[in-house]
Amino acid sequence: MPLFNGERDVIGRRQFIRNSVVGAGYVWLSRAAPFAASAAVADDSQIEVLLGEPLGSISPNIYGHFTENLGGVIYDGVWVGEKSKVPNLNGIRKELVEEMRKIKAPVVRYPGGCFADSYDWRDGIGPADKRPRRTNFWAQEETSAGPASHKYDPNQFGTNEFVQFCKLIGSQPYLAANVRSLPAAEFYRWVEYCNSPAGTTTLADMRAAAGYAEPFGVRYWGVGNESWGCGGDFTAQEYAVEFRRYTAWVPQYGQKLSFIASGPSDDHWDWTRGFLEEIVRHSPGDIRSIYGLALHYYAWNLSRGRTSNWNEGKGDALKFDTLDWYELLRQGDVMESLINGHWQVMGEFDREHSIKLVVDEWGPWYRPGSEATPGDILEQTPTLRDAVFSASTLDTFNRHPEKVAMANCAQLINCLNSLYLAHEDKFCVTPVGHVFAMYAAHQGGQSLRTIFSAPAVNYDRDGKAASFWGLQGSASLHDRELVLTVVNPHLSAAREAKIGVRGASLKSGTATTLTSSDMHAHNTFEQREVVTPQTRALDFQRGDLAYSFPPASVTRLTLALE
Ligand code: AHR
Repeated sequence: MPLFNGERDVIGRRQFIRNSVVGAGYVWLSRAAPFAASAAVADDSQIEVLLGEPLGSISPNIYGHFTENLGGVIYDGVWVGEKSKVPNLNGIRKELVEEMRKIKAPVVRYPGGCFADSYDWRDGIGPADKRPRRTNFWAQEETSAGPASHKYDPNQFGTNEFVQFCKLIGSQPYLAANVRSLPAAEFYRWVEYCNSPAGTTTLADMRAAAGYAEPFGVRYWGVGNESWGCGGDFTAQEYAVEFRRYTAWVPQYGQKLSFIASGPSDDHWDWTRGFLEEIVRHSPGDIRSIYGLALHYYAWNLSRGRTSNWNEGKGDALKFDTLDWYELLRQGDVMESLINGHWQVMGEFDREHSIKLVVDEWGPWYRPGSEATPGDILEQTPTLRDAVFSASTLDTFNRHPEKVAMANCAQLINCLNSLYLAHEDKFCVTPVGHVFAMYAAHQGGQSLRTIFSAPAVNYDRDGKAASFWGLQGSASLHDRELVLTVVNPHLSAAREAKIGVRGASLKSGTATTLTSSDMHAHNTFEQREVVTPQTRALDFQRGDLAYSFPPASVTRLTLALE
């Protein structure tokens, strides 16, 4: 179990969302100089992939995304409108669609986040010119720098447009339903609108009138969001009652429905325990009605232990020093203990572990100030640091294929750990987007136990010695091809590793690397290719491989086995 106390984190986030506290006036004093790479020490590390120890199949859905109607995510990010000069496919940003096809995006969550529990899905269907304008959940965070569409939802992007976006990119939709402010009947009707066969119901007719006669076949349904906070301020026990009420008699229309319960944030074991205890107390069989338990975890506290205040503890996305680099990665490392910890608690009530974890919000969260588009709330500019963080998080999911069924990076575009930044006709892929492109190769593979041995990173944490793992990653098998991804977090030392596969020998391969000599490196609308992956063929004799992992890097090795 992790030792950090998430209690205040969550209360802080809850208050942030409630009180519109956007931290200002916090001056960051230290800005580190770009680091220099030093020479590798011969064979200081070892990576051993154990072919005989499969861990389970990696669900493609752990490479999932999240698009909330928040700031510039939907309006300007995904949706530009059919009449826009920005190239679009029925109103959806074309360049985004093209990029997402490359990363094999499996699933997208929508419309929130906190927005979900204020959203009436009926506002977003029917003729576009008849749809109402509504105050967005996030309106109180907006400033005069943001466009009106961010504050007052024009509802031009609704269920039809979202499902169309998913179809264009080859993803499954994951809809988050409103439990706080709509009755359960509206949830059933949203399912009916999406899934009832053509010609069978009035809602199916409305869908057909919009040009979608065929049912959408939506399988994944979130039952509220953060129901301990913006999703209703429920206790875990109260929420269990709501969950049962919302999910007990939902019509199926031949489409399997997978309900995802609003789960804990961080290390809130009590939420997981309280919710499942109440479900089981009422009827042990109800466990089977839950497909997944959502877990949210943001890495935000870069105060080095000085505070757990949500506003004061945050760091800057662009202005950071070497210590902040390691501190963020340390925060990211907590994910593994959260997965293990909640899994253990879930096992107290669900011995067969039929319920899986759905980490449907994750990523770093910095204080405002690095927005690519001024006025876009919660937008930040991802750097190489966030790429390394994200790669490490995806490796963590890969190492727990039996536990994690889905994960959704928060968020896809113009928000938090964005894969893409966009404004009007400007667009760029962030270093995080490149990591998703590199890691797509793991999807559906058989995860293999892999042992990493490398000298630890030792650094000074404000006068106290601190250390961090030296190399970490994950491996997956696809027929006779092995995908091995490796993170070297060290800011100045390359790691020279011997790579062996127990049970096979290596024949040939390629290496794709994402790195930079500047830890702050990031892509912008003007300089779109500052951080991009480089691929080269590996030149080695059959057998084992020696590979030098550059400092501050993410590497994917694609290796043919014989
Ligand atoms: O991703 C931003 C917000 O963070 C989401 O709306 C909410 O679920 C979480 O607190």
